[in-house]
Amino acid sequence: MSEQADAPQDEEAEQAVDLAAFVDWFRRVTPYINAFRGKTFVLAFGGKAIAGPLAKTFAYDVNLLASLGIRLVLVHGARPQIEEELREKGIESRYHRGYRITDADTLDCVLDAVGSVYLEIEALLSQGLPNTPMAGSQIRVIGGNFITARPLGVLDGIDLQYSGAVRKVDVEGLKAQLALGNIVLLSCQGSSPTGEIFNLRMEEVAETVAVALKADKLVYLTDTQGVCDREGALLDELTADAAAELQNADWLSPDIRRCLPSVVRASRQGVGRAHVVGYAQDGALLQEFFSREGIGTVVSRESLERIREARADDIGALIALIEPLEEDGTLVHRPREVLEREIDKFSIILHDNMAVGCAALYDYGEGVAELACLAVHPAQRGWGYGEQLVERVQSRARAIGIKRLFVLTTRTVHWFIERGFKLEEVDQLPPQKRQMYNLQRRSKVLVKSL
Ligand SMILES: CC(C)(COP(=O)(O)OP(=O)(O)OC[C@H]1O[C@@H](n2cnc3c(N)ncnc32)[C@H](O)[C@@H]1OP(=O)(O)O)[C@@H](O)C(=O)NCCC(=O)NCCS
Repeated sequence: MSEQADAPQDEEAEQAVDLAAFVDWFRRVTPYINAFRGKTFVLAFGGKAIAGPLAKTFAYDVNLLASLGIRLVLVHGARPQIEEELREKGIESRYHRGYRITDADTLDCVLDAVGSVYLEIEALLSQGLPNTPMAGSQIRVIGGNFITARPLGVLDGIDLQYSGAVRKVDVEGLKAQLALGNIVLLSCQGSSPTGEIFNLRMEEVAETVAVALKADKLVYLTDTQGVCDREGALLDELTADAAAELQNADWLSPDIRRCLPSVVRASRQGVGRAHVVGYAQDGALLQEFFSREGIGTVVSRESLERIREARADDIGALIALIEPLEEDGTLVHRPREVLEREIDKFSIILHDNMAVGCAALYDYGEGVAELACLAVHPAQRGWGYGEQLVERVQSRARAIGIKRLFVLTTRTVHWFIERGFKLEEVDQLPPQKRQMYNLQRRSKVLVKSL
């Protein structure tokens, strides 16, 4: 065949491969899309990210995240813009212990710079030109007095004047906006109840908002690809403890040095994942969120958590967890002697050495077992502890050859159904359990095949 005849066939084959790769990629992304819907992400970035060439595509990606139903809070800084403003006005930029010394003239510059960066971001998110990823997008960007500030005051004899710290976050107000599908845009300033405005650190605003909202992710866009080791190699995963050890390392870039302590604190206070991602890479957020490998550094609290089988000295902690649930009728009462006798059936989850949840496994023989007494401390619910405990009990069950795991519950039916359990009739219970079945409680029976 002639070369001319070959060319269109090659092209067709290439297109077919591209299409197959595209379909495959799209399908692989589906679990992330489902997992992130309705979750809260706080994205924090300095003024440099917005001044850079990728500001427009960053807005495209924010738009995409919002259209997937992710609740977004954006927190921006404006350091280079403030510096520029100060330079133009001939005002010296002064810092003490990392805080800007903000006198009245400096505050004017801060307000001008922050105000214009805010409007710039708002404009970027309001694009809607046809033939761009923003076509048809209807993002509503909301700002407001969600942050109450207080003055930092005098530090080592130096009055920081209009530099402040976060005093309070209006969590209800933020949640109401996020529930409406609005993107909340916060800047690095806040006002005090006395009506004064304070210059805040972007990192502090992002951290306190993420912790207050119990955000699923806190993400810093920084001047390097992520957190690197001494040799400059990217560290793609760190525990909060490992990140804490690194946070003062002299090889870290200024952005990383500023955000890492807040990443550590946020992780330790329950923010699911903290990410550090470079803003200089097009589509960095998408690669970080929608691929297993990611592109930056992810910090999680894992090492603070431990899940293990319970011991005799855990009895006190177990009682503290389950007693309130026995009192309100959610769990069946187990006297202390029973707990002592059956302690080896319990698994316990600890956060920072505090018991936050428990679950038990009762073997009924013939490959059937009960998952019982699942409880998570009310203040710690919604962080995935319940699910971790169920997984733990399931793997203990599998290890002893259990094929059917059942659970009796009056109030948590849907929670179990969402985790693969199916409703069954009481007569499906093993005979010993059927005899003990308390007709008055009218618990539902749920079963999972392992
Ligand atoms: C059920 C329980 C163990 C879940 O613990 P948890 O650590 O909060 O669980 P997870 O974080 O893994 O899951 C939380 C999710 O379950 C949902 N959920 C909590 N209780 C629920 C219930 N009764 N029915 C349906 N869903 C429920 C939460 O809304 C949350 O959903 P979201 O992530 O979409 O917001 C906890 O609520 C608890 O201790 N309840 C009282 C004891 C109990 O009912 N035990 C079961 C009988 S043995």
